[in-house]
Amino acid sequence: MKTTHQIFFKDAQKMDDIENESIDLMVTSPPYPMVEMWDEIFTRQNPKIFKALNSSDGVMAFELMHQILDRVWDEVRRVLKPGAVACINIGDATRTINSRFSLFANHTRIQSYMLELGFSALPCILWRKQTNAPNKFMGSGMLPPGAYVTLEHEYILIFRKGNKRLFKSDEEKQIRRKSAYFWEERNHWFSDVWMDLKGTRQELSGNNARDRNAAFPFELAYRLICMFSVKQDRVLDPFLGIGTSMHGAMAAGRNFLGIDIDPNLKSTIFSKMENIIEFSNRKIIDRLQNHLNFVGNRIREKGPFKHTNQPYGFPVMTSQERDLLLNSPQSLEKIGETIFMVIYSDSAQEEFIYEKDHNVTDKAEANTILLQKQEQRKQRHCQIKLFDK
Ligand SMILES: C[S@@+](CC[C@H](N)C(=O)[O-])C[C@H]1O[C@@H](n2cnc3c(N)ncnc32)[C@H](O)[C@@H]1O
Repeated sequence: MKTTHQIFFKDAQKMDDIENESIDLMVTSPPYPMVEMWDEIFTRQNPKIFKALNSSDGVMAFELMHQILDRVWDEVRRVLKPGAVACINIGDATRTINSRFSLFANHTRIQSYMLELGFSALPCILWRKQTNAPNKFMGSGMLPPGAYVTLEHEYILIFRKGNKRLFKSDEEKQIRRKSAYFWEERNHWFSDVWMDLKGTRQELSGNNARDRNAAFPFELAYRLICMFSVKQDRVLDPFLGIGTSMHGAMAAGRNFLGIDIDPNLKSTIFSKMENIIEFSNRKIIDRLQNHLNFVGNRIREKGPFKHTNQPYGFPVMTSQERDLLLNSPQSLEKIGETIFMVIYSDSAQEEFIYEKDHNVTDKAEANTILLQKQEQRKQRHCQIKLFDK
């Protein structure tokens, strides 16, 4: 399997390079209106915003900033295929203007515009951010009634264009089955509250780029991509930042188009990609390992499973997971100025393969097999760590 990943440095209010109805999923996080770190980028796009902020007209500034985002959402509607999903990560803002502290509810403003555009709203996700302790004391501290509640969550708004996506041909159905996630992942991922995301630092090569660029966590993008698209789909991020959604698409085997207005991000985006192959493989191995841990626990508690996954031969909870396969990315190649190609293995990772026609009905036998496989995986983990250094 191969995927391509292309970046455009331009204003996403006009996505001329992208054809109508050619995108299967959008995952993005725009600059947050009324959060000060984004004032400059918004005022550069519309000088009236500078005037509004200067004259302390917060409501006007908020509206003008959203009008820039609205033009991007217009384009998103044009380029998404019918049935495609759009995920928008957004946080609300709090700001004191003219000594008046107030909330600017970005998520409601975006939600109502997307509905105006004809999208259907699906249940959204709240994810909990890690916050800095000093922010907790906003307002009058310990003296009532003038202290303010701290914003410790962000929203992932989820929309669909038109009706549910259909998978008609045998080939489409097969790709969909191969793109399944595990039953236990489904139970966790499809909760409307995510508490487990590391929100403060980009997990790929550790500098503080996330703090400067407000990147979202890799897991957020990767999870949404696995939840709402299938392998080989085309994913779009019109506010690419340092490229987290592209990393998610690379790890998940999806094609990708990313847009950002700031060409200065190019070197950071490129350097972040340097260890994406190893990083993605670690993520995939973690998912498989977590599944086997789940299998081990469940066999101990409840006995054998009814279903078997074909590529790996390990037990799974449902028949929908029968063809699930996590393709390991093997290489990343630059094939144009801002275009990359990832090549993947099409077979199951050796150390996770159970003996194909091994009928694991006995608990003790199942445990022995798990232990053997665990040893093989430990060795593989060690090899990957050595490679990292
Ligand atoms: C919140 S950041 C995105 C962070 C990204 N999710 C990540 O993980 O790195 C928003 C990005 O939108 C970009 N941006 C702002 N206005 C834009 C526009 N009109 N078109 C395209 N990109 C824009 C900014 O340069 C910034 O990189």
